[in-house]
Amino acid sequence: MMADCVILCRMSTISNSPIGIFDSGIGGLSVLQAIRAQMPSESIIYFGDQEHIPYGPRPMDQIRSFSESITNFLLERKAKIVVVACNTASAAALRYLREKFADVQFVGMEPAVKPAAERTRTGKVGVLATPATFQGALYASVVERFASDVVLFQDTCNGLVQQIEQGNLNGAETRKILDDALRPMLEKDIDTVVLGCTHYPFVIPLIQEIVGETVRVIDPAPSVAKQVQRLLDAGGMVNESKAEGRVKLYTSGDPDVLISQLPLLLGEGGDVEQVKWVDDSLAMIS
Ligand code: DGL
Repeated sequence: MMADCVILCRMSTISNSPIGIFDSGIGGLSVLQAIRAQMPSESIIYFGDQEHIPYGPRPMDQIRSFSESITNFLLERKAKIVVVACNTASAAALRYLREKFADVQFVGMEPAVKPAAERTRTGKVGVLATPATFQGALYASVVERFASDVVLFQDTCNGLVQQIEQGNLNGAETRKILDDALRPMLEKDIDTVVLGCTHYPFVIPLIQEIVGETVRVIDPAPSVAKQVQRLLDAGGMVNESKAEGRVKLYTSGDPDVLISQLPLLLGEGGDVEQVKWVDDSLAMIS
């Protein structure tokens, strides 16, 4: 009887615990949004490493070290699962994190080349992602396994992450970066664009305007949200409450800037707190 209670109490503690999500900045909010839509009663803690953004051009071992410290930060705040809502951090650190934190469930991201390869009719697909994502073994393995029959056109959209971080979702500079990346791909007859960076869903309207309605743009966030739900279901970790979950955001950048951007990005405000890097760890500002 006593043992039953201990197990049940522990399960309900885990169920009530938040989903942990991280990215180098605001990009992972596109994944947060999909998770909220899929599982509104789950609470979420989100960390954006805006002090270190962009991750894309950084060395892999540095991104791994950031990712490990951020995971520790989220686990200290009782995250029941960790979503690496960043293709770049997934490329650099996902395998390492799974080894290092063997009892933690991780959901990572990889460019959605598989669904693109399955659905393309022209056999030509554009992929937009950061340099680190393209260099990683994860991307090479996805391409090898799923895209042997299609031609992929890749672009790193230099500077796009920074424009999106600044809230420039459709200004001249953002448009130029996307024009330069996508127009040559359109000339090669692509019919699908894969968004291999979690920042890019915030510029889907602009991308769609450039490529036209007949080109399919694949945002992987809804599939990631479904995968999170599958793992929570399988592990008995779903929050069964009918109440809406809480969302708490942390940034290593300027919290006021993030607060001011939330209505544009999420359609609502949010609770944001600043965290500082001290050596290799994260500490609250008190
Ligand atoms: N949002 C990140 C991704 O999905 C990367 C942005 C960056 O370069 O920091 O790849």
